[in-house]
Amino acid sequence: MPSQIRYFIGNWKMFGIPSSIKILDKINHYFKQDKKNNRKYKVIIAPPHTLLQDFSYKYKKKKIFICAQNCYYKDNFGAYTGSISPFMIKKTGVNHIIIGHSENRARGENDKIIKEKILLCLKNNFNVIFCIGENKNEKKKKMTIKVLKRQLKSAIEKKYNLRKIVIAYEPVWSIGTGRVPSSYELRKNIITIKKFVKKHFKTRHEPKILYGGSVDKKSVYNFKSIKELDGFLIGGASKSSKDFIDIIKNFYK
Ligand code: 13P
Repeated sequence: MPSQIRYFIGNWKMFGIPSSIKILDKINHYFKQDKKNNRKYKVIIAPPHTLLQDFSYKYKKKKIFICAQNCYYKDNFGAYTGSISPFMIKKTGVNHIIIGHSENRARGENDKIIKEKILLCLKNNFNVIFCIGENKNEKKKKMTIKVLKRQLKSAIEKKYNLRKIVIAYEPVWSIGTGRVPSSYELRKNIITIKKFVKKHFKTRHEPKILYGGSVDKKSVYNFKSIKELDGFLIGGASKSSKDFIDIIKNFYK
C-alpha cells in the first residue's frame, strides 16, 4: 500500500438528477481499469442531498465513496423546515461530508455554526472534509495565514480525532474563476497549515490537506510537484466524467 493516498473529491454543488449516476459509473469504470495507479488515490463524489440515498445504495460495495455537501447544525429531528440533520444524512448510508464551504459561509454560515456542525458530524462518525480559505480582499491585505488559522482554531478542538477530518484549502478567489495560486504559493500555504495543525492541536498525525479552486485537466499540472498536497476538491470539472477522469490521468501522467 503506498503511504500517501491522494483524494479526488467531486463537489457537484447544485447539480445532478437520478440519471447523473452515469457520471459515477464512468468514473468507476475508469478507476477499475486504472490498475497502475488506483491504489494511490481515493475518489469521493458529493451529489446533492436528493441523490444521497440512491447513490450510496448503488455504490455501497464499490470503490467510489459518496459524500454529503452540508448538513444542519442541529442533530436528530426537530422543527426546522427544510433542514437535514447529520443523523438523517448518516442514515442514507453516507460516511463523508463537506462542512464550511465558502459558498455556505457567504450565505451566513459563521465559525460558530461550522463548529457545531463539525462536532455533530464527528459524533455521527462522519469523515469530515472541512473547507477553509481566504477571500480576495484578505489575500490582498496579506491576511491569508491569519484567516486560515482563525478558521481552524474556531472549528476544531484539541480533543477531536484529526484522522476523521480532512482539510480542504479553497481560496475563495480561485473558486469558479479559472485563477489558481502559483505552485510556490500553494505549497507554502499547505506546509504552513500542516505545521500549524500539528503544533496547535498537539498531534503527531500528519494532517491531510487538499486544494480546491478551478482545478481542471490543465491547472492540475501546476500542482503535481507539490508532495505535501493530499488531493483535490473539484467543483465545475466534476460534473463531467471525462473532465474528472482527465484530472486524475494528468496528475499521474
Ligand atoms: P471549482 O472547481 O468550480 O472552482 O469549485 C471549487 C469548489 O468550490 C469545490 O468545493
